[in-house]
Amino acid sequence: MEENLEPKVVSMPRLGEAAPEFRAETTQGDIHFPNDYTGSWVILFSHPADFTPVCTSEFMTFASLEDKFAKANCKLVGLSVDGLYSHIAWLRTIKEKIEYRSMKDVEVNFPLIEDVSMAVAEKYGMIQPGESNTKAVRAVFYVDPKGTIRTIIYYPLSLGRNFDELYRVLVALQTADKFDIATPADWRPGDDVIVPPAGSCGSAKDRMEGKEEMTCYDWFFCTKKLDKEEIEKAILKE
Ligand code: BEZ
Repeated sequence: MEENLEPKVVSMPRLGEAAPEFRAETTQGDIHFPNDYTGSWVILFSHPADFTPVCTSEFMTFASLEDKFAKANCKLVGLSVDGLYSHIAWLRTIKEKIEYRSMKDVEVNFPLIEDVSMAVAEKYGMIQPGESNTKAVRAVFYVDPKGTIRTIIYYPLSLGRNFDELYRVLVALQTADKFDIATPADWRPGDDVIVPPAGSCGSAKDRMEGKEEMTCYDWFFCTKKLDKEEIEKAILKE
């Protein structure tokens, strides 16, 4: 049989599309993604390999922040192309042996998908041959309560993720949805927000002449205040 030398087509889900569906075995039992998460935000993230240092630092950080994400109605699901027994042994080692920064005795309670066949990783464009043919890159997919992909971030193998940014993105997405605004560069809760959202109809000029209290830098660029407390009240659970 002739060898197929065509480059393999890599599928990459895109923003605004339904998160590709899959069933998988995890350290917390079987899951049906994204159906099991309807009604919650969920971050599906991949890491290159168990028992590696950058991934260990990230997993400990994800686990330490799980409650914080949960308060913002967001669940976590990890994935690598390792098997279940490797996952279990690695997570046990983290809990029993690793003390890193001020994190110790860290228990990972969110599901970690085993994906030895790479079926899920390939479906989500997590295998990027320029980085590695055999390991997933550090992908982060934000899926909203209706199962739509809202943000995708990719990091290379050598770069550990910034968790302030991962949380900031979650809050910004929810704030944009709840308040019908957009968020400017480097926005953090409490900073002014942009009205109307970029790309929507209705110009800021119309609003300039209306009742809303805004600061306008030009007809296409207006901001307004939005209190941090108001955002917290709208998106954080007690
Ligand atoms: C790490 O997590 O340390 C790592 C994993 C794969 C390649 C490079 C680094």
